Amino acid sequence: MDVFEAIHARRSIRRYRPDRVPRALLQELLFAAVQAPTPPVSGTSPWALCVLEGMERLAAYGDRAKAYAFEHQPAPHAWAWAERPDFKVFWDAPALVLFCARRGNPETPFDCCRAAQNLLLAAHARGLGSCWVGAPLPWLASPGVAAELGLPEGFDPVVAVVLGYPAEQPVGSPRPEPEIRWCETS
Ligand SMILES: Cc1cc2nc3c(=O)[nH]c(=O)nc-3n(C[C@H](O)[C@H](O)[C@H](O)COP(=O)(O)O)c2cc1C
Repeated sequence: MDVFEAIHARRSIRRYRPDRVPRALLQELLFAAVQAPTPPVSGTSPWALCVLEGMERLAAYGDRAKAYAFEHQPAPHAWAWAERPDFKVFWDAPALVLFCARRGNPETPFDCCRAAQNLLLAAHARGLGSCWVGAPLPWLASPGVAAELGLPEGFDPVVAVVLGYPAEQPVGSPRPEPEIRWCETS
C-alpha cells in the first residue's frame, strides 16, 4: 500500500473481530514503528514496547481503567467519556501495545509518539485496525498497575494503541486542506 493511501485512509477503529493478531505480524509492525526518527539525545533505546493480548483480559483492564478515571476526574465531568455507558477503553480489541518512555529524558515521550504513529500506518497497511487510546493512561500511571502488568521499571507508559482486525469501516473525519504560509524572503 502506498504511504499516502495509508495516511489518508487510516481511521480509528472501535469495533474489532475477536481473532487474535499473529505475533509475527505484531513483530513486523513494531519493527516498522521503531523506524521513527529519534534524536541522539534519546539514546539507542528510548522506549520499551509492551504487548498485552486477549480480548477478555483487555476488556477487564478497560473496565478498571474506566472506573479509575471516573473516580479521579480532575474536575466534575471533566472526563465525560468515563461516564458514558457505551464507552469502552480498549474497544474489545484483541491486542494492546504500550509505548513506555524511558524515564528521566524529556525527549523520550516524543519518540514514543513518533513510533506510535508509524504503528498506526503500518497496521492499516497490513489490513489491521487501530485506535490510539489516551483513556487508560491515568489508570496505567496509578500505583501498582505497571508492576501488575509486567511493565519494565524505569519506563512510563505514554502511548496506548489497540490493534485488531476491523469490524467496521468508518468514514471518519478527513481533514481539510491546511492553511499554508509560503514564507519567502521579501
Ligand atoms: C492522544 C490521543 C488520545 C486518544 N484517546 C482516545 C481514546 O481514549 N479513545 C478513543 O476512542 N479514541 C481516542 N483517540 C482517537 C481520536 O479520537 C481520533 O484519532 C480522532 O477522533 C480522529 O479520528 P481518526 O483517527 O479516525 O482520524 C485518541 C487520539 C489521540 C491522538
